[in-house]
Amino acid sequence: MRDKTLKRFPAVLIGRLGTNKEFAGQGYGTAIMDFIKVLFRTNNRTGCRFLIVDALNRPDTLHYYEKNGFCYLIADERLEAKYMGIGVGRLPLNTRLMYFDLLKLKVNS
Ligand SMILES: CC(C)(COP(=O)(O)OP(=O)(O)OC[C@H]1O[C@@H](n2cnc3c(N)ncnc32)[C@H](O)[C@@H]1OP(=O)(O)O)[C@@H](O)C(=O)NCCC(=O)NCCS
Repeated sequence: MRDKTLKRFPAVLIGRLGTNKEFAGQGYGTAIMDFIKVLFRTNNRTGCRFLIVDALNRPDTLHYYEKNGFCYLIADERLEAKYMGIGVGRLPLNTRLMYFDLLKLKVNS
């Protein structure tokens, strides 16, 4: 019998998310993320299981995603560099891969 060989998972990539600087830290980013989660979870619009983001590797940005339930795809930054084929001489990484499992969201659908 063959071992499982699935190496890819259906996911929605969030790119270039941002709020106007004047309104940062007022809850709009979280409200947008809540909307995105419900949009892709309700009625299984895309068949996607995960939201993914290549987040700017800055404490405030990472904190935002962590606070919104995102996890690191590869917890260790050195390992992430290795898996992505980036030399450890180029650490810190500019971005960190993170994901949110849409099944964490309870919806009626
Ligand atoms: C990251 C970003 C989208 C979050 O939107 P937001 O409207 O500030 O988010 P919220 O108000 O819901 O804040 C949620 C958390 O994010 C943190 N945060 C992240 N970036 C922040 C910023 N530039 N200013 C203020 N708070 C920020 C807050 O501290 C808050 O955590 P706390 O409540 O524990 O203090 C927004 O700050 C932004 O556009 N930042 C610059 C661009 C960026 O980093 N985009 C992400 C690219 S991957």
